[in-house]
Amino acid sequence: MEYRIALLKGDGIGPEIVDSAVRILEKTGARYGHRFIFTPYMIGGAAIDETGEPLPEETVKGCLASDSVLLGAVGGPKWDDMPGDRRPEKALLGIRYALGLYANLRPAKMFPALKGASPLREDIISAGFDIMIVRELTGGIYFGDRGYRQGKFGEEAYDTEAYSVREIERIGRAAFDIAMKRDRRVTSIDKANVLETSRLWRKTMHSLAGEYPEVTYSDMLVDNTAMQLVRNPKQFDVIVTSNMFGDILSDEASQITGSIGMLASASLGDSTLGMYEPIHGSAPDIAGTGKANPIATILSAAMMLRYSFGLSEEADRIENAVDSVLNEGARTADILGSASEKPLSCAEMTERIADKI
Ligand code: IPM
Ligand code: MG
Repeated sequence: MEYRIALLKGDGIGPEIVDSAVRILEKTGARYGHRFIFTPYMIGGAAIDETGEPLPEETVKGCLASDSVLLGAVGGPKWDDMPGDRRPEKALLGIRYALGLYANLRPAKMFPALKGASPLREDIISAGFDIMIVRELTGGIYFGDRGYRQGKFGEEAYDTEAYSVREIERIGRAAFDIAMKRDRRVTSIDKANVLETSRLWRKTMHSLAGEYPEVTYSDMLVDNTAMQLVRNPKQFDVIVTSNMFGDILSDEASQITGSIGMLASASLGDSTLGMYEPIHGSAPDIAGTGKANPIATILSAAMMLRYSFGLSEEADRIENAVDSVLNEGARTADILGSASEKPLSCAEMTERIADKI
């Protein structure tokens, strides 16, 4: 089979880690007889420098015409003073919206070989954990009405959160469907004791839960969830939540794995076109030094094979290759811990993984 993949390398370490994932995809394709056709497009600061726009029209068109999108990372100090609607980050929101990618899957699982890197106490994580955060990605306060106006105390800024039943239902279904393939537990996170959008969210989730009798459903308030994630992360299987709560909780969940350089993500909509990217950022401080950890991007490529192309055997092969080099003690600098090996560069780690494909 032939698959067209748009590459959005972006800024900082983005180009290095995307190149690593391309190398692994090519190796996997060669082994299983698939052809991946890669086309790069500009995004973020690199696009601003080149065209003045963080998300050129050509990039959106190119992605829409592809079978899937692999993204590195965007942003950096060079563009931090740009106005809000011209920042590199704006490109991320724009591409998510333009491609209709409303479901953001962020797995936070403990890699047994890296247990020592978690900031949580041994007795809390000894049983491990494997959480899938399903974050709504194209609605809520990120996309609501905003601006400046005269308020009680003079000029004020405002952002608004709105959610329709339809938006809640479709993200809810995504979460329940995923739970059916996992441990069949869904926790929906809201702030229904205060927010009207959360009360509609909760009511809609409850009626959906009725359609999935095999799934154990519960609600949790977002403040309590922030606490429960560090108290007992194992209680969670699938978490479903709004755009902003998901943004915050997914950073917390990734940190307790101790391996933010390892975590992948997928953004999906109603078609098989998805966008896959590491959870970490562009790490401008180490760009070009060869210190970047390519694993999150490589695992994002594996998610692409699984969710967009239905190639689960190929995806397993990549994930197993990563597990196996970690078990052998291969480490990049960010996950060194007490491992005795000297840290591998981005390119060396990539080759270690490629050897196992
Ligand atoms: C993320 C990031 C983005 C978000 C930023 C960079 C716009 O934090 O993907 O989690 O808030 O969605
Ligand atoms: Mg975030």
